[in-house]
Amino acid sequence: MALPIPPQTASEPPRARSAADTLTPLIESTYKSSDITFYVNGKKTVLSNANPHWTLLDYIRAQPNLKGTKLGCGEGGCGACTVVLQAPEILSGKRRVKHLAVNACLFPLVGIDGKHVITVEGIGSVEKPHPLQERIAKLHGSQCGFCTPGIVMSLYALVRNAYNSETNKFHLSERDIELEGHLDGNLCRCTGYKPILQAAKTFITEDLQGQLVEDLPGSGDAKLEKEIVDLVRNGCGSTSKGSCGRPGGCCRDAPSESSSANSKSPASTPPTEPVAMSDEELTPAELEVQKQPEQDSSISGTAYAKPVKSKEDASGAIEVKTTTALDAPLSGSKHGIPVVQFQEYVPDTELIFPSVLWKFEPRPLCYGNDKKIWFRPTTLDQLLELKDAYPSAKLVGGASEVQVEIRFKNSDFAISVYVSDIPELKRTSLPAEAALESAKEIVLAANTPLTELEAICKDVYAKLGKRAMVLEALRKQLRYFAGRQIRNVASLAGNIATASPISDANPVLLAAGATLVAHSKEKGEFDLPMSDFFVAYRTTTLPPDAVLTRIRIPLPLPTTREVLKAYKQAKRKDDDIAIVTASFRIRLDNAGIVEDACLVYGGMAPTTKTASKANTGLIGQKWFSSETLDATLTALSEDFDLPFGVPGGMAHYRKTLTLSMFFRFWHESAAELGLGEVDTEVIDEIHRAISTGARDDYNPTEQRVVGKQVPHLSALKQCTGEAEYIDDMPRMDRELFGGLVLSTKAHANIVSVDWEPALELPGVIGYIDKDSISKEANIWGSIKKDEPFFADGKVLHHGQVIGMVYAETALQAQAGARAVKVVYEELPAVLTIDEAIQAETFFPHGKHLKKGLAIEGNMDEAFAKCDRVFEGTTRMGGQEHFYLETNAALVIPSGEDGFMEVWSSTQNNMETQEFVSQVTGVPSNRINARVKRMGGGFGGKESRSVPFACYLAIAARKEKRPVRLMLNRDEDMLLSGQRHPFQARWKVGVSKEGKLVALEADLYDNGGFSQDMSGAVMDRCMTHIDNCYECPNAYLRGFPCKTNIHSNTAFRGFGAPQGMYFAETIMYNVAEGLGMDIDELRLKNMYVPGNWTPFFQKIDQDWHVPLLLEQLRRSSDYDNRKTAVAEFNEKNRWRKRGICLVPSKFGLSFATALHLNQAAAYVKIYHDGSVLLHHGGTEMGQGLYTKMCQIAAQELGVPLDSVYTQDSQTYQIANASPTAASSGSDLNGMAVKNACDQINERLQPFREKLGKDAPLRAIAHAAYLDRVNLAAHGFWKMPRVGYSWGDTNLETVKPMYYYWTQGAAASEVEVDLLTGDHTVLRTDIMMDVGNSINPAIDYGQIEGAFIQGQGLFTMEESLWTTNGQLFTRGPGTYKIPGFSDIPQVFNASMLRYDNEGKPLSWNHLRSVQSSKGIGEPPLFLGSTVFFALREAVKAARVMNGATVAPGEWKLDSPATSERLRLAVGDELLKKAEVKRKEGEKSFFVTVS
Ligand SMILES: Cc1cc2nc3c(=O)[nH]c(=O)nc-3n(C[C@H](O)[C@H](O)[C@H](O)COP(=O)(O)OP(=O)(O)OC[C@H]3O[C@@H](n4cnc5c(N)ncnc54)[C@H](O)[C@@H]3O)c2cc1C
Ligand code: FES
Ligand code: FES
Repeated sequence: MALPIPPQTASEPPRARSAADTLTPLIESTYKSSDITFYVNGKKTVLSNANPHWTLLDYIRAQPNLKGTKLGCGEGGCGACTVVLQAPEILSGKRRVKHLAVNACLFPLVGIDGKHVITVEGIGSVEKPHPLQERIAKLHGSQCGFCTPGIVMSLYALVRNAYNSETNKFHLSERDIELEGHLDGNLCRCTGYKPILQAAKTFITEDLQGQLVEDLPGSGDAKLEKEIVDLVRNGCGSTSKGSCGRPGGCCRDAPSESSSANSKSPASTPPTEPVAMSDEELTPAELEVQKQPEQDSSISGTAYAKPVKSKEDASGAIEVKTTTALDAPLSGSKHGIPVVQFQEYVPDTELIFPSVLWKFEPRPLCYGNDKKIWFRPTTLDQLLELKDAYPSAKLVGGASEVQVEIRFKNSDFAISVYVSDIPELKRTSLPAEAALESAKEIVLAANTPLTELEAICKDVYAKLGKRAMVLEALRKQLRYFAGRQIRNVASLAGNIATASPISDANPVLLAAGATLVAHSKEKGEFDLPMSDFFVAYRTTTLPPDAVLTRIRIPLPLPTTREVLKAYKQAKRKDDDIAIVTASFRIRLDNAGIVEDACLVYGGMAPTTKTASKANTGLIGQKWFSSETLDATLTALSEDFDLPFGVPGGMAHYRKTLTLSMFFRFWHESAAELGLGEVDTEVIDEIHRAISTGARDDYNPTEQRVVGKQVPHLSALKQCTGEAEYIDDMPRMDRELFGGLVLSTKAHANIVSVDWEPALELPGVIGYIDKDSISKEANIWGSIKKDEPFFADGKVLHHGQVIGMVYAETALQAQAGARAVKVVYEELPAVLTIDEAIQAETFFPHGKHLKKGLAIEGNMDEAFAKCDRVFEGTTRMGGQEHFYLETNAALVIPSGEDGFMEVWSSTQNNMETQEFVSQVTGVPSNRINARVKRMGGGFGGKESRSVPFACYLAIAARKEKRPVRLMLNRDEDMLLSGQRHPFQARWKVGVSKEGKLVALEADLYDNGGFSQDMSGAVMDRCMTHIDNCYECPNAYLRGFPCKTNIHSNTAFRGFGAPQGMYFAETIMYNVAEGLGMDIDELRLKNMYVPGNWTPFFQKIDQDWHVPLLLEQLRRSSDYDNRKTAVAEFNEKNRWRKRGICLVPSKFGLSFATALHLNQAAAYVKIYHDGSVLLHHGGTEMGQGLYTKMCQIAAQELGVPLDSVYTQDSQTYQIANASPTAASSGSDLNGMAVKNACDQINERLQPFREKLGKDAPLRAIAHAAYLDRVNLAAHGFWKMPRVGYSWGDTNLETVKPMYYYWTQGAAASEVEVDLLTGDHTVLRTDIMMDVGNSINPAIDYGQIEGAFIQGQGLFTMEESLWTTNGQLFTRGPGTYKIPGFSDIPQVFNASMLRYDNEGKPLSWNHLRSVQSSKGIGEPPLFLGSTVFFALREAVKAARVMNGATVAPGEWKLDSPATSERLRLAVGDELLKKAEVKRKEGEKSFFVTVS
């Protein structure tokens, strides 16, 4: 066995000897093995001298059969890479196997030695799925599927840990699933999480041989106990009055013929719970667990005849059952109500822990190369020896800091030492109960995994009670510390040694007076008090040759009057780094005088910092006195007097949090010590209950196939990891990988580019840039060609592509790209809309809308008619798409004729083909652009995906080798543009009764450095600023701004959410200005049929918004809840609630690109009756392929699984429009129908001859023998539409939109006024989707879009530094909603009846199956959360005497916790005020 030679390039250790000198003897004496021995999915593997740069994910993804584990971010923030480690554990002499979900993207490969790695492939397959995989698929928990394997694996760990094989008992509660943070490390951008939770909850009462364990109260946590009492009181795991939906029946189920979950809600309910709905409105699916689920013959179960080539009679052909993704039986339906059948869960059929691993003896390991070496000592002595020999060796515990540094800060550590398997460091043993009682301190092993630590804290707190308050505080911090996968491996030692100023644990340890125990070979064991440990930013007193071994945390005596608490505020509650984090300890004497005080903050200085002035000032003071409180608040604002431009920004908010947290502590401690009456409302933080909610699953218009709740056809493949995305496609022979060279400046002249250093690196093959193609070919653009593929002479935004290095591996290509040296000459950058307006940098647009008096230029006259006029400027931030699969492409050149196969994760095959043709000079007919599926698109891959395929095509043509690229998350966020930030400068005039009279607005969007679709986005914004309201006089102007940020682009809604947001903001301002109820104002101005929009589209008989509002108002009990909210706000000083009910209409069609409103499809029937379908649409998770197959199956009269569609490609469908504008089903569906109609016509004689029940295989074969063409090309162009801008002639004007998809939502929120934290108590959403082709998919779109909209309006905030660098470049800094952000009660329904209960038909629609596009429309309704929050803070302002007059206050979107807190208008806010000094700039820039 060849052992590695220590790298000569390693940074010099403090002692003068080289790495080779010092480490070679150790390697030879101790580290004799380089073999990592482990199991993967039950198979033993020995890896000799592994690639030292690889994480576990790199290894897994290099295996051809393990592509299910995905790379979504590489920084532990999305969970797409989750795998489960099975590791043995011996606790109190008992053997146990634990299942740990971990982030493979961070986990060091060396750490799997002696463990069993389970990936998504290991637990099931399409043929034999694991119940989890089956249930997530059947309950529609997977859309694009890129997040799904990771979520499956997180749940897998949970489900497996829930089973005790010794007692044969299974214990899994709703609380475990939702409230214990098992899913907090997983993100999904598509589903809105609800169906995933529902699938997980089907395991709650899995009846395992009658052994079902009741949920027991947890220890010591009062809230937890209360919640459990509530659960028990309510009779099952659901806090709603409805059934929890457990298979096998819930105690609340109404007696029924099956064990279904028919919920019947009582009529009167508290405001946060669903109220009674009629059966029609709320008819949940029936869930059944069966040993052998049944097939639905209209969906699955076709037998195909073996191909018959001759004149053989088809009826004599041998039947075979083909394998399709639908092999697992799918749901059926009973009278329009879906019936979902699952296979039973039998835990003892699970993958077992390999028995040999029980006896596994870890050996010291060492492997690597001349750049990097890994050591894995197995004892503390070995580690100390190593550290002594080579002090700068990097210790690696959970790697959650180290791997992020490697990946994103380019720090690679020449010598890395894995310490997490050293028993002395990872095992905390607590004293026995009696000794624990009298213990003066708790000693924790430094590298105890945080999940274990959480359990230890709970346990000790339960035993010792308040004496162990410090552990309860630590547990509280750990609960919201990173995600579960990180907590399963990360350590306190790692947190402490990193010395991050925003560490969550360090303030607690410091406040508690903890002592660190360190160890070095030279000094032996020694103490390091925490109080002196942090000396500067990420610098500590730990000597380089020492390691942390233990943490000693003192416990007060039972008689001591001491309180210790911890607090944290982050942008998102789950899995987020703190903005401010704090821990406070006070000790009082018997008279209530402060003897000792330690107030510690994180996030307020370069280190975790004690508040020295406040601490000193407190000693000797009477704690429970308002003077002490006031004086301490003053001292704190002096201790943490942040300047306006402080690094990290948010100076005023951070300072306010500093005071607010202390304010809370003061109340909490006083209450805890029983010092007197305090306002306990101050103490309570926002907690969420278990989520509930329903879909009105009943579909009265269900047909044989169309209208059924068929799961996404790829769902099962996505759940088992078999669904293939670009980066999963098998490696090609001689394949190369691209690495992009990106600008590090926002605006600069390029002085020189030196790529020679890259070419010298191992594996690098070549480099391309602007000089690789002609000047003309270098210019592209989706609508206007105005942007270079490669920067030419100048860079115009941070992250712009300058060139591409290609190499044998992706890591080599990325290293090559980093080695390219670019010299810049910086130029001033325009970043914001305000700056663009000032500099007058606009893209040409020139469109405006004029209605009424505006047509003749008489808006002054219109305003003169108004009783009141209000004006304002409203801003709305952009939004990062954050599709889970980053942009990826693979170009495979053929040796012949210049042909190329171009696989791309794109919504736009046609433009991909067109521009690949442009840059290669190969005609389009030799370029087959293809897409099978995307891991999400949301508009972000409509145009911005195009360049990547082009870069690869240039390199592929040059090298005659396949080239592949998948962007890293940070590259994708830098490069690919976002939703447009907008600004509206508006003026509105109304009558005193509240009728809109005149509206004038200048709208600006921040387009970035190139035009892309900024003009079209502006058009849609301008045509949605009316939302649902009639205004007789309107003058609207749009200005797309040109700036030095990435080129902003399409994003679900495409300007409409911004327009409708402005409309609703204006309505709120009017209501507030007139003192009128907002709901009354809305109704007063609501369109009625016959009204005209500002672009002269007539409101027609399809106008259902009033119905939606009325029905939702009733079903959500809106009026009563609105009263209850007002009462709540009267009574509560520190929490406020808000509620709103907002309507929307969304125009369907490519509005201003008429030519795109066309589609084609190609349908072929084979001898065996199987159908191959191609259409121009692309699948990004929205279920388009499923709907198209349903339409074809319905039209051709065949079972769904006889129709197959594999991909979308330009060789089958020429000139396909991008899949966008929610028109995928409308356009392609009609084209599919057209093709089927043609074939049906040709088959009609054979149907007549063979009988109407004859299977298609018989009909097709007969037709074939008769030389009938069994293939048809369908085509459809949208009729009627074709608005021409400026046309005001009511006689001739054509509609801009084919129809409106309409909807309404009501949301209720609660805000913690001290922190700005909030929760959504309840949302009810109702959409008019016409006759849904597939309600399950449409509910998925409704819920997913709503949550995406909620993120847009409340949480997601892109930030730039003042020099134009995008700061928010990954899940660590950019937060999208997670599992715990969804409304606690979330009801979704579809409009089906008029107010008299008569069914609506939508026959007038002339869309396919009278359905409506639904992808984008519900997104805007996420703004109901924003407007409810606005109501809540408005109530707070009124209480605090702050103004709420229009123009004198405003809340811009997104309503982040910072904005909400700063809007409260209270005294703490004033006390914490941060004054901006002359010329001082804020650290971050928002560009709206
Ligand atoms: C997605 C994500 C979310 C996060 N969220 C949070 C959060 O909410 N709150 C928070 O505070 N932190 C958070 N972190 C930071 C990080 O997870 C913690 O700091 C964690 O405790 C680090 O532990 P580790 O074992 O993974 O450290 P590693 O990455 O293994 O090591 C970190 C440092 O500690 C050193 N080290 C490790 N063990 C020892 C030892 N025994 N003696 C001396 N030095 C040692 C290493 O050499 C290294 O310098 C997050 C990180 C990520 C990636
Ligand atoms: S890829 Fe590992 S967490 Fe995102
Ligand atoms: S299905 Fe979860 S990200 Fe797409």
